[in-house]
Amino acid sequence: MAGSIATPDLFVPVVLGSVRSNRRSHRPALLLEERAKAAGHRTELIDLRALNLPLHGQDDANGRHPSVVAFKETIARADAVVWLSPEYNHAYTAATKNAIDYLGRELARKPVAVCGLSSGSLGGARAVEQLKLVFVELRAVPIRESVYFSEAESIFDSAGQLARHEFVERIDRMLDDLTWFARALRWGRAELGS
Ligand SMILES: Cc1cc2nc3c(=O)[nH]c(=O)nc-3n(C[C@H](O)[C@H](O)[C@H](O)COP(=O)(O)O)c2cc1C
Repeated sequence: MAGSIATPDLFVPVVLGSVRSNRRSHRPALLLEERAKAAGHRTELIDLRALNLPLHGQDDANGRHPSVVAFKETIARADAVVWLSPEYNHAYTAATKNAIDYLGRELARKPVAVCGLSSGSLGGARAVEQLKLVFVELRAVPIRESVYFSEAESIFDSAGQLARHEFVERIDRMLDDLTWFARALRWGRAELGS
């Protein structure tokens, strides 16, 4: 039994929830992707700016939009998902919510790690707390560990190099926890149903 829980081949994509042209969240998202790779996972960056999802509900045909189909298919394949949203007006971004509203069963009984970012000292903590509640409604399993990218302008230097190395350890700790849940819940979905 333990052998089937210890599934090494996990797909853990990272969703970047800022669509601004000069967003500060892009490099932290790439760092999350890099650390997921370093943890031995298959991963990819799901960049909501590149994906350019139409506004949910505005057009009946939106569910068949190629970006929507691709997004849902990628989340359906995931064993766990890392979400990064900056904090806008004490909440997660509209782009993040728009993407989530396209999801139904794709995230059910899968763990999600939620990370925040802000120019202030809280690192998007208010956005993170709210976003975790949203995932519960999708029957996803938000884990306790989060990374809060505070004072975002100081995380990378002007050459694009990581300046605050403590984030590597914080990300790795979060990914350790996420991996535990990803293995346990993958086994659970297979053995007990989702
Ligand atoms: C519309 C908007 C609202 C914001 N509201 C907050 C906020 O409530 N709390 C905060 O700490 N920072 C706030 N900020 C600052 C952002 O945290 C900062 O601009 C950050 O770089 C945004 O991430 P991004 O560059 O990846 O989009 C806000 C920024 C924008 C654009």
